[in-house]
Amino acid sequence: MVADGFCDFLPIVIISLLVILFLRLFRRRHSLVKTPCPQSYPLIGNLIGFLRNRHRFHDWVCDMLSTTPSLTLQVNGFLGLSHGICTADPTNVHHLLRSNFPNYIKGRRYTSVLHELLGTGIFNSDGHLWSSQRKIASYEFNTKSLRNFITDTLKSQLSRSLIPHLSSAADAGETLDLQQVLRKFGFDNICNVAFGVDPGLLTSNSKDSSSLLFVQAFDAAVENTSNRFMSPLPAVWKMKRFFNIGNERKYKEAIETVNQFAMDIIKSKEEQTDSKTDEDLLSRFMASSWDMGFNDTERRKFVRDIIISFVLAGKDSTASALTWFFWLLEGHPHCRDLIHKEFSTLMASSVPKIQPTNLTFDDLKNLHYLHAALSESMRLFPPVPINSRLTVDDDKLPDGTYVGKGWFADYSAYAMGRMERIWGSDCREFKPERWLDVNGVYQPSDQFKYPVFHGGFRMCLGKEMAYLQMKSLVVAVMYEFEVEVIGGGGTPEKMVEPPYTLSLLLGMKNGLPVRLKQRQHV
Ligand code: HEM
Ligand SMILES: *[C@@H]1O[C@H](CO)[C@@H](O)[C@H](O)[C@H]1NC(C)=O
Ligand SMILES: *[C@@H]1O[C@H](CO)[C@@H](O)[C@H](O)[C@H]1NC(C)=O
Ligand SMILES: *[C@@H]1O[C@H](CO)[C@@H](O)[C@H](O)[C@H]1NC(C)=O
Repeated sequence: MVADGFCDFLPIVIISLLVILFLRLFRRRHSLVKTPCPQSYPLIGNLIGFLRNRHRFHDWVCDMLSTTPSLTLQVNGFLGLSHGICTADPTNVHHLLRSNFPNYIKGRRYTSVLHELLGTGIFNSDGHLWSSQRKIASYEFNTKSLRNFITDTLKSQLSRSLIPHLSSAADAGETLDLQQVLRKFGFDNICNVAFGVDPGLLTSNSKDSSSLLFVQAFDAAVENTSNRFMSPLPAVWKMKRFFNIGNERKYKEAIETVNQFAMDIIKSKEEQTDSKTDEDLLSRFMASSWDMGFNDTERRKFVRDIIISFVLAGKDSTASALTWFFWLLEGHPHCRDLIHKEFSTLMASSVPKIQPTNLTFDDLKNLHYLHAALSESMRLFPPVPINSRLTVDDDKLPDGTYVGKGWFADYSAYAMGRMERIWGSDCREFKPERWLDVNGVYQPSDQFKYPVFHGGFRMCLGKEMAYLQMKSLVVAVMYEFEVEVIGGGGTPEKMVEPPYTLSLLLGMKNGLPVRLKQRQHV
């Protein structure tokens, strides 16, 4: 659904419309479908509705879904060239992600667009190619040694990079775009965890310039990839790629830089004799790849692909979550006070006195209110607002909706967070308390009712790491500073059009300008 209709090529659209108009006269209607359609002018799909609502796309989807009997609707894609369903029903989501998992794959819609950047990495593959990587990666993510490595990396980045950076802005009375700061922090962090190298984006004193070139090239490649997703006529970029012209040539160069960086590190690790002691993800995946029956070329490509997928998955997701979180806190000062009180109490009770950047994994685990507030924030502003699968064969969803072979099957995590039928009549209010039991203990939600980290067999592998990162960052920042959001905070129940961007991750349209004030500690 994401790809169907973003249109900057109106002339092409109009000509195509005329052609399609003729063709459609002879097409059989899908008589099997009994799912309510969004207002669908028969010849042009949902294009008009889309164009009218593109600035509030996710709310538009939410509005339409909430009027259907089972929170599910059929979608006629751009020009009627594609068909699919979109759902916000937990039982249907369970069906897509778990009970009939093999029938709903990433498929060509993803792989053709992302292939150059991700190869056949875990994020961009199906079937056996995917499951072998999933096995290795989920094993690593359950080791204590990786968790310790992640915790240590975070501590050092917070105390050496983020806090000093924010302190100097606070002292200078500068206004900062917190979204930008969080993105840089997230990118530095995933590079540290993935490769064991620090690009130093935040401090701008990179130890080696190749990692800086890498992050710039990676960013350009991702941006160009999103543009492909949004292109209404894939033929346009495919043609450019074929002739190697324009933006597509720049794209190729960026991918080249990304590959070169990954390969250089892989080769240098191969030469290291003591590489077994390296804790970063790349070293771990390399160690697992030796006995997989690959030759050298295949093995290096395997390792490159999987690590690039992790960089993509980990790069901006927590930054997106935290940006909305700080914005919501500004609108809910009472919750902000409770968060501050919770970690202050924890720190005060530890002997000897503990530093905010030095909380252990278990300390962080005990911050139930903060955990609840972060989950609540992502319920309203999920970093991945809508997700899409390709249907392998005809199927029927639990609510009776027919899905045809080759159709897309989407679920909207954004819409699900705002459904009265799922969360009750206060669903649009920011209320961390809804996640706590009477003793103030955090109660996780069912993953198919809250698919913010996806669910089922392809559930996010970085969920625990993400919470760890977000919690330790929030504590470190709120301990040192009072954060003031310029322009005021967010109260979702009062707004029709939250200020989000239309990209694969839910970003804040004009950034999040803040002013910081050092807190006085006695
Ligand atoms: C708040 C932060 C995060 C959110 C909301 C989030 C959400 C998601 C979602 C929705 C998916 C499914 C994507 C799809 O299949 O289309 C996913 C997959 C994935 N995530 Fe995350 N993620 C977060 C952080 C991270 C981090 C920090 C890492 C890196 C360590 C990570 C690693 C992955 C990987 C490897 C997958 C692919 C799993 C597979 O296909 O088997 N995520 N995540
Ligand atoms: C590709 O990314 C670069 C760098 O962000 C940008 O300048 C360029 O406009 C992008 N091109 C396309 C087609 O998205
Ligand atoms: C590795 O295997 C692939 C096919 O699986 C083959 O194309 C390639 O030439 C092999 N490379 C080497 C160095 O043997
Ligand atoms: C942080 O904790 C470690 C042990 O986990 C300790 O050695 C170190 O001194 C602590 N640092 C600070 C600043 O409290």
